Amino acid sequence: MQEQLSSLLAKASAELDSIRSRPELEAAKARYVGPKGELTAAMKQMGGVPKEERPALGRLVNETKARLQELLDAALQRIEAAELAARLGPPIDPTLPSPDAGPGSYHPLTLVREELCRILRKVGFSVADGPEVETEFYCFDALNTPPDHPARDPQDTFYFPAPARFGNVSRHRPDERYLLRTHTSSVQVRTMMKGNPPIRIVSPGRVYRRDTSDASHSANFHQMECLCVDRGVTVRDLKALLDHLFAALLGPGTKTRFRPHYFGYTEPSFEVDLSAKHLPRVNKEWIEIGGCGMVDPEVFAAVGYDPAVWTGYAFGMGIERLAMTLYGIDDIRVFYQNDLRFLRQFAGLA
Ligand code: DAH
Repeated sequence: MQEQLSSLLAKASAELDSIRSRPELEAAKARYVGPKGELTAAMKQMGGVPKEERPALGRLVNETKARLQELLDAALQRIEAAELAARLGPPIDPTLPSPDAGPGSYHPLTLVREELCRILRKVGFSVADGPEVETEFYCFDALNTPPDHPARDPQDTFYFPAPARFGNVSRHRPDERYLLRTHTSSVQVRTMMKGNPPIRIVSPGRVYRRDTSDASHSANFHQMECLCVDRGVTVRDLKALLDHLFAALLGPGTKTRFRPHYFGYTEPSFEVDLSAKHLPRVNKEWIEIGGCGMVDPEVFAAVGYDPAVWTGYAFGMGIERLAMTLYGIDDIRVFYQNDLRFLRQFAGLA
């Protein structure tokens, strides 16, 4: 009987190893441990075994039974794992890009930003970067924008709570408040304080204002800043640069116009209008596109440049407004909604 049990185990172990489905498993269960199964049949023979051999044999039967159950459990586990794997499909690497996404395309704001930078690089400007978290000195004080200026009002500007610290954003004074920059003009100051004139930089980037979102306003949007500092720079140079920039971007039918304005950091200051009515979707003669002027001597003084020696112009504008003019977009919010039906219209325009 001992031999019978061990050959039963050997057979079961080989057979159960190769089982792959639930019906096969049920059949094997019935064959080994069911009421008509082989183990049950062996147990029935116990009656004919001499009394003294029964305890040892009983133990062996129990061990065989336990071992058979283990084999059946293992087979069930294997079947369940295979069923789960079948449901999950082939193994995937979630860190790989989606096979369905196809190649991406540039966002329209990226297209306009890159084109502006490309045009300006060709005429001697280099791209400068500045932090989006700024301090009052770089955003306002050094730009001759006094504390009572409306742009500094907490209603207009996102300030950080006093304990906030940004180790990678240097402060000019240790007690300065941090804020989200309201314009890219702060990069003018950081660039001038870092280097020496002559300077020609363009600085595109994200800016923040407490604006309620509607078709033409967004609490964060993008600007592009230009700064030129050299000897003998005049308003003519500024106008020539803007004429060239917009004609290169929008085509030779483009014109620019200056309207006198006030900015603390330029003197004289102008608002810049653009006439691009040759563009198919533009229905206004003049579109206001940015602000500009000749760098105020106060700004040179704040960054340690001698205003008697250095002259310069600065210019800033909204990238969204320009992209809307260029592509005929009538709602600024579509830039930020990541709707592929919108974004796909710009594929292939790079
Ligand atoms: N910083 C201004 C704004 O956000 C735009 C601007 C005006 C930039 C005049 C300049 C400038 O560089 O000279 O509305």
